[in-house]
Amino acid sequence: MLLNSKGLALILAASIAVIVAASLLLISELPVYVFWLIPVICFGASYILINVVMEFLFFKELRNIYEMFEKIRKNDLSSLKPKRSYGHSSLNQIQQEIYSYAYVKQSEIEELKQMAKFRRQFLADVSHELKTPIFAAQGFVHTLLDGAIDDKSIRMKFLKKAAKNLDGLDALVQDLLTVSHMEAGDITMHFEPTNIGEVVHEIFDQLEDRANKKGIELKLESAKSSDFLVLADNQRIHQVFVNLISNAIKYSDENGQVVVSLASNNGKLDISVKDNGIGIPPEHLNRVFERFYRVDKSRSKAQGGTGLGLSIVKHIVEAHRSEIKVVSNVGQGSSFSFELELYKPE
Ligand SMILES: Nc1ncnc2c1ncn2[C@@H]1O[C@H](COP(=O)(O)OP(=O)(O)OP(=O)(O)O)[C@@H](O)[C@H]1O
Ligand SMILES: [Mg+2]
Repeated sequence: MLLNSKGLALILAASIAVIVAASLLLISELPVYVFWLIPVICFGASYILINVVMEFLFFKELRNIYEMFEKIRKNDLSSLKPKRSYGHSSLNQIQQEIYSYAYVKQSEIEELKQMAKFRRQFLADVSHELKTPIFAAQGFVHTLLDGAIDDKSIRMKFLKKAAKNLDGLDALVQDLLTVSHMEAGDITMHFEPTNIGEVVHEIFDQLEDRANKKGIELKLESAKSSDFLVLADNQRIHQVFVNLISNAIKYSDENGQVVVSLASNNGKLDISVKDNGIGIPPEHLNRVFERFYRVDKSRSKAQGGTGLGLSIVKHIVEAHRSEIKVVSNVGQGSSFSFELELYKPE
């Protein structure tokens, strides 16, 4: 194969030597050894020079580019790096371009793999969560059909248990629909002036029974006597408070306290929901917003939780161009906070 740096250098050096020899023929009084020596020296020097220049400026670069293509072809993108070189600038540029293109493709592939893994995990989680209440309700109904229906003492008990599991199933499907709509970006927010104090009181009324059963006090601390108006989607913000306050009640021991604080800050309203309950260990803190994530699976399950509440909260808060934060200490309690834009009448 002549078309490499050595082959090209050989052809060019030989041509130069021939031209030099032909030129020397024009000089008549040259000694014979000079007539041979000069072309030989020219051939040697040209061969070395051309070979080195070709090798460093072009062929090494072309080999690098070829190696890159080989790696892309074999999908071996992780080891793909542009090699530092001093070669021809346009070849260098081509190498950089290929590298950037492969890099973008690699990120896309990684993202697709991650999404596929996510989907598989989601499907497994959903099936697992649906299976539990369906099996339980099915068990109660079949036991009743197999004769237990004639026993008055257990008939009502089993029917109530089956109904409770079906209610749980309904709540789970509703939450799942909300999460999937939010992740698909299918939910449009209707921002309107919303009285946050009023929302919090409504939720307190709604959850009062649950709190009373555990002797938990629900308290609103507002930095202003009159009401705060924020720009929010009323229904969705209700959902956020229901989830945060019911978590605060659920994950608190008897006789605790749940405090919702409101304070204005530079055109925004700082909102926090604090409890003095069981708290969240630090290693779980940044995962509690993932769907289906539960810190203590058995405990949360006993409370009827599916681990979707906080992921819905996160989506809604982010749709309000804000961020939900959590601070927590085990045994001392947790505080979930976010901010909303205060409503300014024109
Ligand atoms: N205030 C809190 N104190 C302690 N742990 C909490 C608190 N809020 C949430 N957690 C932990 O974070 C996990 C996720 O909460 P999330 O609200 O998403 O799910 P859940 O309450 O288990 O179920 P769901 O809200 O769907 O009924 C909970 O299982 C719990 O372990
Ligand atoms: Mg919850």
